Amino acid sequence: MNSVSDQKTLYVVVCAAGPASEVGTLISLAQDQGWTVQVMATPAAVSFIDVKALEKQTGRPVRSQHRAPGDPRSPKADAIILAPATFNTINKLANGIADNYVLDVVNEAIGLGVPTVILPFVNTAYANRAPFKASVEKLRGEQALVLIDPEGFTPHDPGSGSNAKNKFPWTLSLKYATKVFK
Ligand SMILES: Cc1cc2nc3c(=O)[nH]c(=O)nc-3n(C[C@H](O)[C@H](O)[C@H](O)COP(=O)(O)O)c2cc1C
Repeated sequence: MNSVSDQKTLYVVVCAAGPASEVGTLISLAQDQGWTVQVMATPAAVSFIDVKALEKQTGRPVRSQHRAPGDPRSPKADAIILAPATFNTINKLANGIADNYVLDVVNEAIGLGVPTVILPFVNTAYANRAPFKASVEKLRGEQALVLIDPEGFTPHDPGSGSNAKNKFPWTLSLKYATKVFK
């Protein structure tokens, strides 16, 4: 049953971390709830995902680069989920760095007030770094929802990412994004 009232566009932004290869799971769940899904990938994430399969699943090109003049624009985002979100992208986003296409898009979207959910996938060594903690607070200060303990993803021990990726809470990110439009 659809949960999103009109056909709304959800940007699913994928970073280069273990669960990226399973992002199709999130897309299916989102489509079941009535979202039109536009996948965006950081340049580093492109080698983690099956671009062709995701384009088939969404009916839309996976975007990782600025478009060429004349290429069609992506539909405007009604909401954005970054999942999995890396240490790198979270820190850059929090500090307004826009050195790739998805960071351009998401930096602007946060400024526009587009509902943005960030579901990190980081180990405890990354998560305990002072710059990362500061980034999470900065993003929360700009109304981005960062789903990390106690509200979301629990960082795993270094070296245990392969096990942790099977427990990645995709549904949690969608629950929050969908709630905005119910
Ligand atoms: C196999 C592999 C697994 C990785 N897993 C993670 C991870 O779980 N979390 C993370 O923050 N970075 C992880 N990294 C490091 C990021 O890929 C790296 O910092 C990259 O620059 C992130 O780019 P992006 O943030 O633009 O996607 C991993 C790298 C590799 C090669």
